[in-house]
Formats: sequence, structure tokens, C-alpha cells
Amino acid sequence: MSNNVFIDPHPFWPFMKVLITGGSGQLASYLFEEMSSEHEVSGVDIRPPVHEPAMGRVAMGDIRDVEAMTSAMEGCDAVVHTAAQVSVQRSTEDPSGDADTNVMGTIGVLRAAVAAGVRKVVYISSAAVYGDPQRVPVDEEHPLAPKSFYGASKLCGEHYVRAFGSTFGLEWVVIRPFNFYSPRADPSSPYSGVITKFAQAVREDRPLRIEGDGLQTRDFLHARDVARMVTMAVESDLSGETLNCGSGKGTSIIKLASTFSDIFPEKVRVEHVPPRTSDIRDSVADISRARQVLGFETRTGLEEGLRDFFQ
Ligand SMILES: NC(=O)c1ccc[n+]([C@@H]2O[C@H](COP(=O)([O-])OP(=O)(O)OC[C@H]3O[C@@H](n4cnc5c(N)ncnc54)[C@H](O)[C@@H]3O)[C@@H](O)[C@H]2O)c1
Repeated sequence: MSNNVFIDPHPFWPFMKVLITGGSGQLASYLFEEMSSEHEVSGVDIRPPVHEPAMGRVAMGDIRDVEAMTSAMEGCDAVVHTAAQVSVQRSTEDPSGDADTNVMGTIGVLRAAVAAGVRKVVYISSAAVYGDPQRVPVDEEHPLAPKSFYGASKLCGEHYVRAFGSTFGLEWVVIRPFNFYSPRADPSSPYSGVITKFAQAVREDRPLRIEGDGLQTRDFLHARDVARMVTMAVESDLSGETLNCGSGKGTSIIKLASTFSDIFPEKVRVEHVPPRTSDIRDSVADISRARQVLGFETRTGLEEGLRDFFQ
């Protein structure tokens, strides 16, 4: 008999059954693309999917309905919790509604995960939990001082994820994306991000509106890169980790406008409008931790990602 000890060089789970909450959303559509070749993936949402990768795979259900979530999670190894009220502006107009979805909904998902015997939950939080950065780049040890009700509810969700982990032994990873974009974000939404608004302005031959001096910086990454990092977190044996998800690079709004202009030299005009008083000045992720524990790097550069909008 051989004394050889088998060392698995690939400590990832070979096959998993995964449920995505918010399965009809932007990020979920890339998660379906990213995970489906290796795993059995389904989704749950309160609205039907509009993006091809999610079609036919999303059941209707509300994350606040624990019973419905428990049956959706039956036999699942992992849950990726993306469902949320996602707008800062809407959270200001209706803080209770925001908390209902982002706090009570997250509790609903966690209770169902425990009841269904799910091994791991990956919670999609947000860089909004940091509030105004006191230093840039922002690492995970940065003080947590959300400025918006949205940031507060996402942070509250994080606390519940950790508490469910310690109370019930549920494995968890919290991921804090910075500003992600893709052509699958809803351009008709008044709450959409600056890249979606700029892309729509180019399509409609309108000027790009820059708020204030345009020197404020953001960390932009393509939703496909976020989906890659989430997939790595699901497949790894990582648990009890909180990770930033960004490109690690700051891009000013002026630079963003000039990148659009490089792609469409004849079409891009710029208009300056007064700044928003509550706007955060600089927001850039320190992604050293994600690099270290997952080997994560973004793959889609900004120019390539923007071209995606017009293909
Ligand atoms: N877009 C960004 O730049 C960004 C940045 C940081 C964090 N995030 C977080 O990433 C996640 C995904 O964002 P996205 O851009 O894909 O948003 P999205 O709006 O495209 O998707 C969210 C989905 O959640 C669903 N949902 C809302 N309430 C629900 C409920 N009660 N029950 C079931 N489903 C419900 C919505 O119908 C929607 O399909 C969110 O948790 C968001 O807070 C987004």
C-alpha cells in the first residue's frame, strides 16, 4: 500500500448548486454567465429577467418571504445575495422601504439559508458603507460611517450576515463593490450611475453633464469583473472575509468624459452643471486583500468596457 498523501492542488468545490437572489438584475446576469458552465445556477426575483443569460432560470419570489426563499434554496450549497433596493436617492425618499428590502430582506435570506442547510452565503454589500473616505485608497479597515440610508442598510445587512455566521455556523463572504457598470444597467432609471447616463447621452446626441469641476474620482469596474470575483469567493474555501471589489484605480469624471470622447470624437460634448452637495470627492478601492486571498484582478479596462455599450 502506498503512503502517498493526496494533496488537492485545486481546493475548489467541483460542482455546486447556487441560488442568486435578485436573479433578474444586472450583476446576476453576469453571474449566470460566469457560473453556469461549472455549476447549477438558478435565481429568484420579484420581476422577470430582461437579460438573456437569466432567461428561464429565475423564479418569482420576494426575499422577505422566508418560506418562499427556503424552498428556492432547497438542495443549494451556496447563495449569492444580490437582491436589494439599490438607489441612494430612493433611500433618501423612502428610508423605511429601503430598510425593509435591504435589512429585513437580508434577514429573510439568511433565515432561509439556515433552514435549507445552505453551506455558504456571499453577500453583495457596497462601498457606500464607508461614507466619505478619510483616506484613499480605501481598505477594508477604513472606518464605517455610511452617509446615506442606503449605505446604512447595506452595512446593517453585513452585520446580520456576520451574526448569522457566528450563531449558526453559516460560512460567509461579504463583498463591497465600488462603482460597477455594464450595458445591462437600466438606462431609463433616474437612479442610474454616471457611465450609464453618459452612454445614454452619447446615444441620444446630448452633452455629457459633469457635476462640479469633474475632478472627483471613482473606481469603475465592469460588472463582469464583479461577477468573476463573486464566483471566486463562492468556489473558494474562504469564509469570514470582507473584501473590497474594485479596479484599484481612480478615474476622474473629466477623464471618463474624455475616454468617451476618444471613442466617439465627433459625438461627445460636455456641459458643466453645479455640484451635488452630498457628493463624495474621491472613492478608490484598495484591493490588496482580494488580490492576496483570491488572486483577483480586473480584466476589462475602462475603454474596452465602454465600447461594450455600443456593440
Ligand atoms: N451597481 C453598482 O454600482 C453597485 C455598487 C455597489 C454595490 N451594489 C450592489 O450590488 C447588488 C446588485 O446590483 P445591480 O446593479 O445588479 O442591481 P439591480 O437593480 O440590477 O438588481 C437588483 C435586483 O434585486 C431585485 N429585488 C429588489 N427587491 C427584491 C425583493 N424584495 N425580493 C427579490 N428581489 C428583489 C430587483 O428586482 C433587481 O432585479 C446590489 O445588492 C447593490 O446594492 C451595486
